[in-house]
Amino acid sequence: MISWGIKTSKNMEKQSIYLRKVLQSDIKLIFEWANDKDARNNSFKTKEITWAEHETWFENTLKDLKTRHYILCYNGNDIGQIRVKIEEENQGKISYSIDKAYRGLGFGKIILQLCENALLEEFKDFYLYADVKKSNIASQVIFKTLGYNESIENDVFKYNKKININK
Ligand SMILES: CC(C)(COP(=O)(O)OP(=O)(O)OC[C@H]1O[C@@H](n2cnc3c(N)ncnc32)[C@H](O)[C@@H]1OP(=O)(O)O)[C@@H](O)C(=O)NCCC(=O)NCCS
Repeated sequence: MISWGIKTSKNMEKQSIYLRKVLQSDIKLIFEWANDKDARNNSFKTKEITWAEHETWFENTLKDLKTRHYILCYNGNDIGQIRVKIEEENQGKISYSIDKAYRGLGFGKIILQLCENALLEEFKDFYLYADVKKSNIASQVIFKTLGYNESIENDVFKYNKKININK
C-alpha cells in the first residue's frame, strides 16, 4: 500500500511516497528539471535557462519566506517538484513538474494533492491557482480531476480552488 504524507519525522522515511522540502543540494536536479524540453514548452517562458540565471533564482527561492518548494520522493527516488509562490496572505500560484521517466503514471495528481495537504498543515484555508497552456492536456485533466474551477482567457486555461482543513 502506498502511504502519502509530508516527511515530518524519521519514521516517515519508511513511507514510499511523500514530499520533502527542496534543499540547497537539489540545485542541479531542479536545474535539469527546469530545462526539460516539455517543461520549457509548457511554460510561458520557453527560453532555455542558463546555469547563472538558475543559481540566482534558486538561491532567492530557497530563502524566500513566501515560497514553498517540495520534491516528490517515490521509493527512494526524487521524481518531481512542486512550488507555490505565496502572493497574498493565503493565496498562491502553483508550478510543478514530474521527471520524464515517471510521467503518464498519475504522479502529477499525487504531487498536487500532497502539496495541498502540506499547505493545510500551515494554513486553515488557502486559495491556489495555476495557468496552463491550451496544449498541456495532462495538466488540465489533473486540475479538473482535483476539483479546480476552470476558465479560459486568451487560450490560457486558468484554474483556481479554495482548499480548507475541513474538507
Ligand atoms: C504535466 C505533468 C506534471 C503531468 O503529470 P503526469 O503524472 O505525467 O500526468 P499523466 O500523464 O498521468 O496525466 C494526467 C491525466 O491526464 C490524462 N491525459 C494525459 N494526456 C492526455 C491527452 N492527450 N488527452 C486526454 N487525457 C490526457 C491522463 O490520462 C491522466 O488522466 P487519469 O488520471 O484520469 O488517468 C507532466 O507531464 C510534466 O511534468 N510535464 C512537464 C511540466 C509541466 O507541464 N508542468 C505543468 C505546467 S502547468
